[in-house]
Amino acid sequence: MKEQYKIPNHVAIILDGNGRWAKERGLIRSMGHKAGSENLKKISKYIFSKGVKILSVFAFSTENFKRDKDEVDYLMNLFVKDFPKLVKKDDDLKIVFSGRRDNLRKDVLKTIDDITEKTKNRTGHILNICINFGGRADIIDATKKIYSDIQNGVINIDEIDEESFGKYLYNSMPDIDLLIRTSGEVRISNFMLYQCSYAEMYFPKVYFPDFNKDEFDKALDVYNHRDRRFGGINESKNN
Ligand code: FPP
Repeated sequence: MKEQYKIPNHVAIILDGNGRWAKERGLIRSMGHKAGSENLKKISKYIFSKGVKILSVFAFSTENFKRDKDEVDYLMNLFVKDFPKLVKKDDDLKIVFSGRRDNLRKDVLKTIDDITEKTKNRTGHILNICINFGGRADIIDATKKIYSDIQNGVINIDEIDEESFGKYLYNSMPDIDLLIRTSGEVRISNFMLYQCSYAEMYFPKVYFPDFNKDEFDKALDVYNHRDRRFGGINESKNN
C-alpha cells in the first residue's frame, strides 16, 4: 500500500546566508536582510498553504548583538517596519515572538507586543519569530520559572517531566518535526535545542533569500524519505 505523503506539524528554519547572498551581488549585507525579509513573507504563506501548523524562524540570535552596530540597527529597523506587514486582516495567522526582551529597543518591543495582542485569539497557523533568542537561555529561563512555581506551590516537583518542562519554554512550542538551515552550514547554533531532540534536519546549499517554493518542496520530499523511529525500531522496515 502506498504510504501517505507526510506534512510536518512544526517546521523551523534558521534563516542563514543573507550576507553572502548580498555579497555575491556586490551589495551591502543589509540588502541581503531586506531580501530575506521579503522572502519570509512569501515562503511562510506557501509553507502554511501546505498544511504545516507551526513555523518557527530564527531571525536574530542573542549572539547577533556582536555584529557591527550599523547592521544591528538595520535589522532592528527592518523588524519595526516589516513585522507589521505579516499581519493581514481576516487571516487566521497567530504571530508569537520568542526570546529575551532585555537589550531589545523600545520600538521593537512595542511592535512585537502590538502584533502579539492583535493576533492572540487566532487559531489557525502559528508563526513563531525568534529574536534575541538562544536555546540555552530558553531552557535556563524555563528552569527559573519552574523553580518559582514550585516555591509558590503552583506545581509539585514530581509533576516535572519532559512534557510539563516543555510547556515552560517560550510560548510552549512543541517538538520540531523538520529543521531547515539554509546556506549549507551544518550547525544548530543554539536554536530551539529542547524541541530539536527528534527533528529531521535538512541543510540545503541555497541562501535564505533564494529559498523558494521549489526548495521547500524538495525539503518536504527529503522529510518524506526519512525513517523516523524516535529511538525505537520501525518493524515494517526491519523484517
Ligand atoms: C543570518 O544570515 C540572518 C540573520 C542574522 C537575520 C535574519 C533576518 C531576516 C531574514 C529578516 C527577518 C524577517 C523580517 C520579517 C523582518 P547572515 O547575515 O549570517 O548571512 P551570512 O552567513 O551569509 O553572513
